[in-house]
Amino acid sequence: MGNTKKLNEISWQDFNALSLVEKGIYFQGPPAHTLIAQQFSRKQLEELCTLATKIKRISKRREGARFLKTLLSDKRAMLYFAQPSSRTYLSHNAACQILGLDTMDVRDSKTSSEVKGESPEDTIRTFSSYADMIIMRHPVGGFAERVAWMLSNTNRVIPVLNAGSGADQHPTQALLDIYTLERSFEESGGIDGKNIVFVGDLARGRTVRSLAWLLTLYNGVKIYFVAPKSLQIGADVLELLDATGTKYEVTDNFLQVMPQADALYMTRIQDEWDAESESSTIDTSAFSIEAKHMDMLKETAVIMHPLPRRKEISTDIDNDPRAIYWRQMRNGMWIRAALILTTFGRQDEANLYYANYKPE
Ligand code: NCD
Repeated sequence: MGNTKKLNEISWQDFNALSLVEKGIYFQGPPAHTLIAQQFSRKQLEELCTLATKIKRISKRREGARFLKTLLSDKRAMLYFAQPSSRTYLSHNAACQILGLDTMDVRDSKTSSEVKGESPEDTIRTFSSYADMIIMRHPVGGFAERVAWMLSNTNRVIPVLNAGSGADQHPTQALLDIYTLERSFEESGGIDGKNIVFVGDLARGRTVRSLAWLLTLYNGVKIYFVAPKSLQIGADVLELLDATGTKYEVTDNFLQVMPQADALYMTRIQDEWDAESESSTIDTSAFSIEAKHMDMLKETAVIMHPLPRRKEISTDIDNDPRAIYWRQMRNGMWIRAALILTTFGRQDEANLYYANYKPE
């Protein structure tokens, strides 16, 4: 990746002032960090998706599963989740197990020395003493970047993987969403040219912010942002789309957009970011999907959700073949395994094994 720059050669202030795309050049490594969606190229996405499928197939056989477990058996990962998480935590943990990587975790800052007044920076530095990688979720936007920068100036320079930061980024969720879209559109020309419809709390949903960027790497994609006015997508995201010439439409009319969708990406109201429960006063009833809407959707459309859901997807449609959110969740485990293996530069070992492997 010829074009890389080093995090220890720039001050935090100068780094922080860079655009997201400029920042991405610093995360290619070594060590390779995963911090923002803007650091990925389409080629990298395609390689990760292909590797995820290979890992999945290899793991189906006992000897294959045993081989995978040798790939990172000399490494340890720290899972530091300072915000609630079910899927992201479990799928990262499972991905580590698939690759034989031992894990440790802190899932609540109250159980670490932060309660004794230790700074978050010192806490992270402590974690880095015992681990070869930090997988972290944190309520403060940009904190994972700060951690990567800080570690680059220590003698334990290890990869940092952002498993959700504030309301701004969730790059690994965006990867699993791309993997899910790729697989869903495998028979229909891939993601290029598709209409992707985001629905719900787009102002504070970090998964949408990261995925919207990755979609700019595909040709002819059109994005629809469907939300109540006060929860609409940020102008900063639209600026990024403008800069790449990606087509989009911003609307509050879900019914009108529904028939255009190749993929519906539903999200919940992120009321944990409310200052004074203001989102409880917003009428969100028009931003949900129920059985009565299903006839309006294309036969080939897919319905996704990063989960957890509330009422925006009725459980009545769970068994419709277009409802793929459970599969989407499982895809997270495979793409995260592919990402972690690639982070440590050992992907060729899995590729070589697969070349000689006969899937069942
Ligand atoms: C999302 C998150 O934490 O941002 N969940 C997830 O990681 N699957 C979405 C959400 O909480 O609504």
